[in-house]
Amino acid sequence: MIVCLCNRISSSDIQSYLEQGRDLSAVVSDLGLGTCCGTCLVTAQEVAESTLQASQHRINTLAIADLATV
Ligand code: FES
Repeated sequence: MIVCLCNRISSSDIQSYLEQGRDLSAVVSDLGLGTCCGTCLVTAQEVAESTLQASQHRINTLAIADLATV
């Protein structure tokens, strides 16, 4: 899904940055997220939050799996 129409930044682009341990400010400085009309920033924040929640869920699931093998 395209999040930023002005700069053609997708949700996958944002997720990739977050998975590398970077944050939205890096997407802004590297790709220009929100630097034109700015209407994408709310959606970008939502994508970031859902990505981080999914990541935390994976970590919790892995921790439970580790406990199950003990
Ligand atoms: S849609 Fe992102 S700056 Fe316009």
